[in-house]
Amino acid sequence: MIVLGIETSCDETAAAVIDGEGHVLSQTILSQIAEHVPYGGIVPEIAARAHLAHLDKLIAKAMHDAKVGYGDLDAVAATAGPGLIGGVLVGLMTAKAIAAVHDIPLIAVNHLEGHALTARFTDNVAFPYLLLLVSGGHCQLLVVEGVGRYRRLGTTVDDAAGEAFDKVAKMLGLGYPGGPAIERAALKGDGARFAFPRPLKGKAGCDFSFSGLKTAVRLAAEARPPGALLEKDVNDLAASFQAALVDSIADRVTRACAMFRGIHPDGGTLVVSGGVAANTALRAALTQTASRSGLTLVAPPIALCTDNAVMIAWVGIERLKLGFTDTLDVKARPRWPLDPTAAKATGAGVKA
Ligand code: KG4
Ligand code: ZN
Repeated sequence: MIVLGIETSCDETAAAVIDGEGHVLSQTILSQIAEHVPYGGIVPEIAARAHLAHLDKLIAKAMHDAKVGYGDLDAVAATAGPGLIGGVLVGLMTAKAIAAVHDIPLIAVNHLEGHALTARFTDNVAFPYLLLLVSGGHCQLLVVEGVGRYRRLGTTVDDAAGEAFDKVAKMLGLGYPGGPAIERAALKGDGARFAFPRPLKGKAGCDFSFSGLKTAVRLAAEARPPGALLEKDVNDLAASFQAALVDSIADRVTRACAMFRGIHPDGGTLVVSGGVAANTALRAALTQTASRSGLTLVAPPIALCTDNAVMIAWVGIERLKLGFTDTLDVKARPRWPLDPTAAKATGAGVKA
């Protein structure tokens, strides 16, 4: 079984070819960071145009490197949402064209399912497992029951974790993307200097909130006289912010572990995935949190936690094995929750 995967939902244009045993035959990825840096964040229109400019060549290179022809493909899988709709349309329409011309099945992939199933590709994790999905657009705790079967336990009531990293980095003049910049600054800083709030810590349930923490960092930065924010201050603010965010996430995950064990007493794995799962401090805290709760943490390699096309191709393989394919009239979706039955979280600016 050979599947071509395409990812264009955010600021990475990527294509990969993998086989049914999970071997990566090829992968290409082009980050648009340089194109967005002047604006301090992702500009959807620029992202869509960049995907359009580069995707064809990236797919051709992936096919060439994999040494396969289109006739060898068993399916083409592309992200069909959620994400920036212009970019999603570029990838999905390209996949539809390949499927139509070469008469192969199309698989419309939920980008979040890509992050969710990566641990099965890397570590062969069995269903069910508990998933912490932490990325630029999402922060959720889910029970992964099977392919296409998710039960959401908690979500953010305001910002996603990656969004909080990006906004705080911008505030501190650390640039974009914010997560890696905060992590680097935090390594040099004192995480105990500022006693920032741990949002929702100790509260029932396992929802998240980060906007109050973000405001606390802004107020602390503004308390310094204008122009007097020294490099040491920035490093200490970054370290104290990261410590508070990690602490808050660890508290929410502890509660989710207990809920998960209530539903699946035999389940033994906590998986973390999404761009923020690249954060070393978060990984270390989650290793402890999981083991205290009697679970084992599985964190895929960083390159497979941030956006990539291997995870999309892998969802293609998992779905194809179950006979889940899509018709050519499938629509691109800006919003696409993994658990459509989940009750709306209460709070401002709730994400799907
Ligand atoms: O999963 P991803 O690549 O794209 C989305 O689907 O959102 O996640 C990107 C997010 C960005 O907000 C970025 O700042 C964050 O992941 N991120 C990190 C780190 N590396 C990337 N956050 C904290 N620490 C990192 N090392
Ligand atoms: Zn992502």
